[in-house]
Amino acid sequence: MIGLNIEKTFDFVSKASVLAYDAQALIAREALEKGTGKGSDFLGWLHLPSSISKAFIANIQATAKILREHCEVVVVAGIGGSYLGARAVIEALSNSFAWLMPSAQAPVIVYAGCNISEDYLYELTEYLKGKKFGLINISKGGTTTETALAFRLLRQQCEQQHGKEMAKKLIVTITDAHKGVARITADREGYQTYIIPDDVGGRYSVLTPVGLLPIAVAGFDIEQLVTGATDMEQTCATRVPFAKNPAAQYAAVRNELYKRGKKIELLVNFCPKLHYFSEWWKQLFGESEGKDHKSIFPASVDFTTDLHSMGQWIQEGERSIFETVISIDNVNHQMEVPYDEANLDGLNYLAGKRIDEVNKMAELGTQMAHVDGGVPNIRITIDKLDEYNLGQLIYFFEVACGISGYLLGVNPFNQPGVEAYKMNMFALLNKPGYEAESKAIRKKL
Ligand code: PA5
Repeated sequence: MIGLNIEKTFDFVSKASVLAYDAQALIAREALEKGTGKGSDFLGWLHLPSSISKAFIANIQATAKILREHCEVVVVAGIGGSYLGARAVIEALSNSFAWLMPSAQAPVIVYAGCNISEDYLYELTEYLKGKKFGLINISKGGTTTETALAFRLLRQQCEQQHGKEMAKKLIVTITDAHKGVARITADREGYQTYIIPDDVGGRYSVLTPVGLLPIAVAGFDIEQLVTGATDMEQTCATRVPFAKNPAAQYAAVRNELYKRGKKIELLVNFCPKLHYFSEWWKQLFGESEGKDHKSIFPASVDFTTDLHSMGQWIQEGERSIFETVISIDNVNHQMEVPYDEANLDGLNYLAGKRIDEVNKMAELGTQMAHVDGGVPNIRITIDKLDEYNLGQLIYFFEVACGISGYLLGVNPFNQPGVEAYKMNMFALLNKPGYEAESKAIRKKL
């Protein structure tokens, strides 16, 4: 089970003030359960882990097997919730140098449709030349410009390189059951498809085929991922009292910190493999809570790397931040600091110690320094980095985000704000149907 330690926030908010959230947090948790809160059309994720059947997992694994057998590279095309969850898990579990070590066992996973960079797309298409590659096109709405643009390019390349018939085997679409161009194209071309349930929003969709298929293609155990999430579903169930419910406590303490002026939450790791987990977390909380001109700004740092860049700001900058550290108890490999006769670097005092012991002391030292410097610290521990624990973390943060959003008083399941840039972009690009907006925006230039 993951551990949650909020003791190091109590110099900044009183324990009593956090415990006082007990009733409110229960109401928020019940609102999720009963579907009586804001955004209740999008609660399909709440019991998703426990409702995933073995047959469904087997079906995903069978599709993954086909892609694994036929492809050297698989491109996951999607943006926001349609790729961050998969990338978070895949990068957390992959060898840090996997992309430099193509193997016969698992295809290299690369990502597209998450930007509109011409250089990125050019370099990706160059990289794919001459390679057997597959494509997982993921878009719930099925019309997202970034993803559709990348898919148009990559689908053509796939058909040119492998022939139209083979491309049908190599392209899988994950989208809405009925609407959107991704659905229309997939049905017309005869691609295999998976459905993103109507009641699961993008950023809560990692445990649907959106996350499960790419993760399975990368060679990871999606059954264990789901088991971890299912266990966490029990741990954070409505019946669990506040004192034992880590998601409710985390939601409570971060809301109390926010009230006391801590406007920025830094998700911290001491393992670079968690970089994309933080990206997923930032989207989850940022898109869920950033509404009505309020909410914590979710940011992230990779330590100890960023202690040498952002460390100064964190230690001595404006005291408006708090940290949430994801700490991994046990690493997956062992390595000791070697002895060196000359000891010119002065490191012999560490000789024979595990590298992880040095990292753990850096972690403890950083926590103490930052708390002393005025930065409250929340600590989330997992036993090790594996599918089971990542499944737990994912569900923990999802349910915590739902509770936290309700405590803040926002709808954690919509994202009206993301439309503004699209509207301007379409107007500037003279998209048919945006004539009036085009005229209006040009006056502002
Ligand atoms: O969480 C969300 O809803 C968003 O981040 C979406 O996932 C993102 O905008 C991509 O949308 P779509 O899957 O419709 O292409």
